[in-house]
Amino acid sequence: MSEILVTGATGNVGRVVVEELVAAGAAPVRAVVRRPEAAGLPGEVRVFGGDLSRPESLEAALKGSDTVFLVWPFLTAEGAPAVLEAIARQARRVVYLSSSGVDDAAGRQTDPINQLHADMERLIAASGLGWTVLRANTIASNARGWAEQIRATDAVRGPDIAATAVVHERDIAAVARRVLTEDGHEGATYVLTGPEVLSRAEQVRAIGEAIGRPVRFESVPVAVARQRMLADGRPPVLVEALLASAESRSRSDVVTSTVEGLTGAPARSFRTWAEEHADIFR
Ligand SMILES: NC(=O)c1ccc[n+]([C@@H]2O[C@H](COP(=O)([O-])OP(=O)(O)OC[C@H]3O[C@@H](n4cnc5c(N)ncnc54)[C@H](OP(=O)(O)O)[C@@H]3O)[C@@H](O)[C@H]2O)c1
Repeated sequence: MSEILVTGATGNVGRVVVEELVAAGAAPVRAVVRRPEAAGLPGEVRVFGGDLSRPESLEAALKGSDTVFLVWPFLTAEGAPAVLEAIARQARRVVYLSSSGVDDAAGRQTDPINQLHADMERLIAASGLGWTVLRANTIASNARGWAEQIRATDAVRGPDIAATAVVHERDIAAVARRVLTEDGHEGATYVLTGPEVLSRAEQVRAIGEAIGRPVRFESVPVAVARQRMLADGRPPVLVEALLASAESRSRSDVVTSTVEGLTGAPARSFRTWAEEHADIFR
């Protein structure tokens, strides 16, 4: 039977994609990870060592793979052509995790992260592989990054990113499972959102309700956020990309029905996510 290869399988989205695929049992699942010994993936998964920055290291994982779930963890698409060539030598199609911020009408995207995804989508379309693009809205699991602040101070301090319909990573994974295991999605671009548009303050409030004590959001100027992020040891190029996206994105009222259309279940709310993950904030 043709196998599905998941990249980014230790990450927020890839790990639940693996879990969804294993639970569905529709096809054998493989994962390619940088540190197999630390991957902690289900026993049903064939785990291969490999690094997306070294395309030759992916050969063993790709041999015998039919479909690839591709997470691109870099801020530039520079290394992507060689990786896509390696994929195309072995596999038939790729499902790419992109961003709902990509604007098809724009010559240049508003920030470096959306530009990266626009560049990746273009390279994938030209790769000769069959493809499906999943454009995810802001992913609920980003809120994991607030856990330490909430546990210590009952507050989240950060730049006030525009309100948007935050999507539960398990809904991205449920869609990915359908697309990875069924025919009929070739050439489709799916925009995946949660069910309601929420500001950061509203997300933080939902976490407070889930843990049973008030938690507040305090907006800080971008310059202060930059200093803190650099002091936390984040790479400067990542800090600038994140802040550029925080500053340049405007409020999005887009709520799609794609999750429900493809999975048959309504998109999960951020409140549900917060209740499921309450323990990390307590
Ligand atoms: N966060 C959002 O709101 C959002 C919204 C739309 C789209 N996206 C896109 O979603 C993707 C990230 O998804 P995520 O949240 O699941 O990310 P994540 O939790 O940061 O996971 C990144 C994954 O990539 C792996 N990885 C990193 N460098 C690698 C390398 N050189 N070779 C192979 N694997 C490598 C990591 O593995 P290790 O265990 O080895 O580190 C990890 O499994 C990005 O492309 C992002 O732009 C994010």
